[in-house]
Amino acid sequence: MNKNGKIKILGIAGSLRRGSYNKAILKAAAELLPIGSELGIFEKLGEIPPFDQDQENSPPPVVVDLKEQIRSTDAVLIATPEYNYSVPGVLKNAIDWASRPYGDSAWDRKPVAIMSASSGMLGGARAQYHLRQIFVFLNMFPLNGPEVIIPEAGAKINVQGNLVDQYTREKIAELLQALLEWTTRLERAEISPREVTKGHPYRAAYASQSDSEKKYMGEPGGVGR
Ligand SMILES: Cc1cc2nc3c(=O)[nH]c(=O)nc-3n(C[C@H](O)[C@H](O)[C@H](O)COP(=O)(O)O)c2cc1C
Repeated sequence: MNKNGKIKILGIAGSLRRGSYNKAILKAAAELLPIGSELGIFEKLGEIPPFDQDQENSPPPVVVDLKEQIRSTDAVLIATPEYNYSVPGVLKNAIDWASRPYGDSAWDRKPVAIMSASSGMLGGARAQYHLRQIFVFLNMFPLNGPEVIIPEAGAKINVQGNLVDQYTREKIAELLQALLEWTTRLERAEISPREVTKGHPYRAAYASQSDSEKKYMGEPGGVGR
């Protein structure tokens, strides 16, 4: 929560394209925010170099900035296209940087919501499900619904980059309201990291792994994957 008592949301668009539909729906989200929330947008995705594990202990300034922005936000909102049935490389690259080094992930326990827009018929649904899979390992708290999946985005966003489809605007407003409630509930629960770690099935399994197994998961000095 910021100094004004508002829930802070950090928006990240998974496309670098100037006329991106996904940037457009983030812009629409800024217009549709519920009272008690504010949205900042991470604009530097294209400045993030390819992930290099040799650099993870001294990441480039843009990654330090990304991690700080994630840490200081209450919730994350991702708007992404689907590339070849999955998450665009630029977005996955940013996710990977901000998750490292092991034990210093900025994503841990962050509430997160997803929207996707595509020129195709399925609206980026497959990328959404791949993202949800990634959130499991990152120990994030994804909002389950409503799902905002926007097919044939070119018919809903005009050349000025404005989302003009009323139904889609309503769905984004619903998603934002749900994200606000979800984030507020999680903050009220005041779950300590220790309790979450104990309760998280993957983390529990990880804690019982041998050092060599942990190295295999990519800890420094391990073989990585
Ligand atoms: C490399 C590449 C792969 C794509 N693969 C898919 C896909 O698997 N599914 C889909 O619905 N659209 C796919 N598209 C089309 C995108 O949905 C479309 O280009 C969309 O406008 C990209 O989002 P943006 O407008 O935010 O840049 C692909 C586009 C590119 C450039």
